Amino acid sequence: TAPRLVLGIDTSCDDTGVGVVELAPDGTLTVRSNRVWSQTVHARYGGVMPELASREHVERIADITRDALAEAGVTLSDIGAVAATSGPGLVGALLVGLMYGKGLAQALDVPFYAAHHLEGHIHAAAAEGNLQAPYLALVVSGGHTHLFDVPRDGEYVLVGATKDDAAGEAFDKIARLAGLGYPGGPAISDAATRGNADAVLLKEPLQGQKGFDFSFSGLKTAALLAHRAGAKPEDLAASFQRMAVHFLVKTTVRAAEATGRDTVVVSGGVAANRALREAFARTDLRVVFPGAGLNTDNGAMIALAGAAALQQGRPASALDGGASAYAP
Ligand code: KG4
Ligand code: ZN
Repeated sequence: TAPRLVLGIDTSCDDTGVGVVELAPDGTLTVRSNRVWSQTVHARYGGVMPELASREHVERIADITRDALAEAGVTLSDIGAVAATSGPGLVGALLVGLMYGKGLAQALDVPFYAAHHLEGHIHAAAAEGNLQAPYLALVVSGGHTHLFDVPRDGEYVLVGATKDDAAGEAFDKIARLAGLGYPGGPAISDAATRGNADAVLLKEPLQGQKGFDFSFSGLKTAALLAHRAGAKPEDLAASFQRMAVHFLVKTTVRAAEATGRDTVVVSGGVAANRALREAFARTDLRVVFPGAGLNTDNGAMIALAGAAALQQGRPASALDGGASAYAP
């Protein structure tokens, strides 16, 4: 049989993402295109304005879809399945991609897959390593810090999550207070190379916990106090990054030991962090990160999740109990 092409759409927040993935008969997944339109209208408000996000998605989605098809060198009639994020995210923004995707699937008379946004992040990395379950999955982004055990393909067991801020959110907030700019992740990572990680004493969050949860609000408060006491931005960046990385890696390694997993996928915007990648490389775990352009929100990762589900004969996302309600 010929390869199947899956179109994936993510409009969960302020990025309009559309990608095309090829599913070969032997199960190999190849990203054929990945187009992301990042909205800039929100900059002047200092945060994402949900209603503006929805409107921008409506204006852009057809063009981005056309671009993604062109980049893949295919036409709409070549598409054999459509996947779109059904949640979580901004409801109005999600609806744009979800309804557009369902409309395409209806018109083309092909299967539709409602994907969970985090399932997309996980598959962005899993596809890179051609992974099959079991494995652990750490999703670290601006909105999420979630650790899943994936005992079987399509089954996701939440073993830990942040009790307060997401990891990326902490990078962003500390960068802002230190005057290092936005987005905070790359700014902190860059400033940290010029700072002294021993300069600011930070306490490891949730020390002694039995579980595998995360917390970043204590580090944020400690960083604020150190900043007020005159700590240099570079030292603050280096000290915070070292502790955040240590905490993320240590918790993941503990979870791997508890579940007996030897492989972990790490994805989401924070997975781009170099210090985090280096720290994971020093563990005994096999660690897989997403390929270029697949860390941050995009449509190809949703296509990858859809293609994997299609291949395994799963109708809707197992991460999202309500997803089947969206199936056509
Ligand atoms: O996955 P993503 O694009 O969007 C969400 O779904 O949240 O993640 C964005 C987050 C931001 O908080 C950004 O500061 C962080 O990822 N980030 C980084 C790095 N690059 C982006 N954090 C640490 N180090 C980086 N190099
Ligand atoms: Zn995301």
